[in-house]
Amino acid sequence: MTHILAIDQGTTSSRAILFDASLKVISSAQEEFRQHFPASGWVEHDPADLWATAAATARAAIERAGIGAASIAAIGITNQRETTLLWDRATGRALHNAIVWQDRRTADMCERLKAEGHEAMISARTGLLLDPYFSGTKLAWLLDNVEGARSRAEAGELAFGTVDSWLIWNLTGGKVHATDATNAARTLLYNIAENRWDEDICKLLDIPMQLLPEVRDCAADYGMTRADLFGHEIPILGVAGDQQAATVGQACFQPGMMKSTYGTGCFALLNTGPDMVPSKNRLLTTIAYRLNGQTTYALEGSIFIAGAVVQWLRDGLKIIRTASETQPLAQKADPLQDVVMVPAFTGLGAPYWRPDCRGAIFGLTRNSGPAEFARAALESVGYQTRDLLEAMRADWGSAGGAVLRVDGGMAASDWSMQFLSDILGAPVDRPKVTETTAQGAAYLAGLQAGLCPPPDQISGQWALDRRFEPKMDDSLRQAKYARWKKAVAATMEAA
Ligand code: G3P
Repeated sequence: MTHILAIDQGTTSSRAILFDASLKVISSAQEEFRQHFPASGWVEHDPADLWATAAATARAAIERAGIGAASIAAIGITNQRETTLLWDRATGRALHNAIVWQDRRTADMCERLKAEGHEAMISARTGLLLDPYFSGTKLAWLLDNVEGARSRAEAGELAFGTVDSWLIWNLTGGKVHATDATNAARTLLYNIAENRWDEDICKLLDIPMQLLPEVRDCAADYGMTRADLFGHEIPILGVAGDQQAATVGQACFQPGMMKSTYGTGCFALLNTGPDMVPSKNRLLTTIAYRLNGQTTYALEGSIFIAGAVVQWLRDGLKIIRTASETQPLAQKADPLQDVVMVPAFTGLGAPYWRPDCRGAIFGLTRNSGPAEFARAALESVGYQTRDLLEAMRADWGSAGGAVLRVDGGMAASDWSMQFLSDILGAPVDRPKVTETTAQGAAYLAGLQAGLCPPPDQISGQWALDRRFEPKMDDSLRQAKYARWKKAVAATMEAA
C-alpha cells in the first residue's frame, strides 16, 4: 500500500488528490458546487452536495491514477472550517442546509453575548472572538429555528459536526462521529487550553453536549470507509481544518514560521509552538495541529474575501471569463488612478471584526473601468494581508514571521505576490508545490500510516519556487497603505 488520498472539501469546490508515499501528486479531481445566498449576509451549502462531490472526486482521482483502492494506505481529510451541520443519527440526513463560515446571520446573537460581557471568558478559553464566523452561534441558530431540533438534540437523536465530521460520518457509514482538535478549535465550544469541550460555554449557548463529536489528534484512527464506496475499505488516518493542513503542508513546524493561504478567503497562521499566545490585536489563537496528544498553537488572521473577489469579478461583474484573466487585466490599469476596493461582502474579519460592513469602492473617475476594478480587487488582498501581519508582529514581536510562505490559487499570480511583497515591505516565499492544503492532510494520514517521517525530518522537503522581494519605494508603500486604511475606516463608518 503505497498511496495516500487527500480529500479537500473547500468553500466553493471539493477536491481529491492522490499522492505517493513521497507526497508527489499522482492524480486529482475537482468539482464546484452550488452556493446558496438565501438573504443578505447568509451563505448555505447543501450537505448532500458536500458529500456527493467529495465522494465523486475521490473516486475520480483513484480511477485517473489507474490503481485499485487496495493500494491506498490511508485517507486524509481537510475541509472548510466552522461550517456547521446538524444531522439525524438514525437516518444520516441533515436537518437543514449547512450554515457556511461566511454566514453572518448570528451577528445579533454575538452582539447580545458581547453586551452581556461574555467575550473575555470565551476568548480566554477558545482563543476566538464573539463573531458569527464560528460554529457555536450557528449551531444555536439551528437548534432555535429548525422545528423540533432542540428536543431531539436533548434526546441524543442528532449529531453536530463541521464538514470533516460530516464526511467521516458518511465515509464510515455512520460508524464514527469524530472531529480533530483543529476543527474543534473553530467551534467556539472547545477549550483549547484544556483540550476539551467547554461545559460552561455550551450551557451559555444552550447547546446540548450529546450533539458533539469525539475530538481526536490530527494523525489518528478515524475508522474505515464503507467497502462499497471505493471497492475496498480504506482507513481514515488524518484530519485537519484546511488552514491548519496548509500550515503542515508548508512545513511551518517551528515557532515564528508563518504561512498565508489564498483560497476563497485568506488565512495567515503563525506557529507559536506549545504556547497559547493570546492576541492583544484582535487576532485569533488557535490549534495549529495536535500530534501524539501534544498541542502546537498558532496565531491566526482571517480575511473572509480573497479569491472570492476574483470570483465576483467573474460571476457578479462579469468583466472576466476566467480567474487567469485578472492579472493581465490589472496590469493594464491606469497608474494615475487610485481606485481602492474594500471587499467586505460578508463583513470584515481580522483585525476589524465588523460583520455589519458591506463592500465599498473608492476613487472612481469617468475613466475607471474593468482594469482598475481588477487591480483594486487584487490589491485589496495584499492590503488585507498587511493588516494581519501588522497585528501579528505587534502580538509576537518582529522576529516572528519575517518571511511569509504563500500558497493557494492566487499565489500563482506573480503580479499579486509582487504587490504583496511590496506592500508588506517583506519577502514572500512561494513553494514549488502549492497544493499545500491537500499535501498537509496527506502527510498527517501518511504519518499515522507509518509512510511519512515525523515533522522534523520532513521539513527539508519544502522547496522554494520563487522569492518575491519588495521593490516599491517606501514613501509610495506608506501612501498606498494609508489610503487603504482610510477606505476601511469609511466602510466601517458607512455600515
Ligand atoms: O475558515 C474558513 C476556511 O477554512 C475556508 O477556507 O480555502 O475554503 O477559503 P477556503
